[in-house]
Amino acid sequence: MVVLGIESSCDETAAAVVRDGSVLLSNVIASQVKVHERYGGVVPEIASRKHIEAILPVILQALEDAGTTLAGVDGIAVTRGPGLIGSLLVGLSAAKAIAFARRLPLVGVNHLEGHVAAAFLTESPPAFPFVALVVSGGHTTIYRVDGFQRFTILGQTRDDAAGEAFDKAAKLLEIGYPGGVVIDRLAKQGNREAFPFPRAMRDSLDLSFSGLKTSLLMRLKKRGAPFTPEELPDLTASYQEAICDVLVEKTLRAAAMVSATRVVVCGGVAANSRLRERFRTEGASAGIEVFIPPPVLCTDNAAMIAVVGTHLLEAGRKDGLDLNAVSRWPLTVHP
Ligand code: KG4
Ligand code: ZN
Repeated sequence: MVVLGIESSCDETAAAVVRDGSVLLSNVIASQVKVHERYGGVVPEIASRKHIEAILPVILQALEDAGTTLAGVDGIAVTRGPGLIGSLLVGLSAAKAIAFARRLPLVGVNHLEGHVAAAFLTESPPAFPFVALVVSGGHTTIYRVDGFQRFTILGQTRDDAAGEAFDKAAKLLEIGYPGGVVIDRLAKQGNREAFPFPRAMRDSLDLSFSGLKTSLLMRLKKRGAPFTPEELPDLTASYQEAICDVLVEKTLRAAAMVSATRVVVCGGVAANSRLRERFRTEGASAGIEVFIPPPVLCTDNAAMIAVVGTHLLEAGRKDGLDLNAVSRWPLTVHP
């Protein structure tokens, strides 16, 4: 089955063609980073307008890259939520129009399930069950995953997502946007033990990052002046390490608690080089197989949406043209 995936939940307009839920035929992503950069965050109204401009060229490019046309597509999968409503509606409207015009089955996909499903696009996909850490700009949750649509929450953030902790720190330090990418780069040359940052809720599988952000803010205030370019590598390396510490430690602990031997790490923050390295080495010493999609499949893309869509369509699921966008949609809820 060949599925066209469409994703527009935040600030990337994306389309991809996937065969049999595992073979990536094309993956086109139009990023709006440059547009939102000067605001230091995504401006929803601008995002929707940019999606409208990009959506059709992106879909056409995905078909062309896959060497196919709509005649070679068996179904359409589109992100239905969670995300920015105005942004989601652009992808959803395009998907509905194509499905109606070509009489193709349409299915709405949960963006977070998409992030997990990106692991199936790799050469050695994980078998169920596994523990998944979904760590992105809006979510930080540890799940036990027993199959598609079978998620149990083991731990989640009580406040900010890990991606927000990266983005807000970069904004405070005025070092650029998006924060995660900038900090990842700066931290490579830094001493990870130079600055003490707090690790919250050590005994729980739940997470909290607001104290970490406040601790950086306090450090900045006390100093009364911006950090110098020479200090930034040590500062960002120490800050990044505090985030990696809790993510790695809690996810591996969650896996041990449910006797899982496999762990999937996914979502935009899973593109972080230090987090990937730590999961690989610490997973190996704990005897746990760690699956992390390549960075381009960790950040938002439509291939991951097509993977979930393929499974839903194969299971006989089909949505009508009344399918609507949802801003909040926990993975444990199946509409
Ligand atoms: O999954 P994603 O692309 O969008 C959401 O669904 O939120 O995740 C975006 C988040 C942002 O917070 C961004 O700073 C973070 O992923 N991110 C990173 C890296 N690349 C993206 N965080 C740390 N290191 C990176 N290399
Ligand atoms: Zn995402």
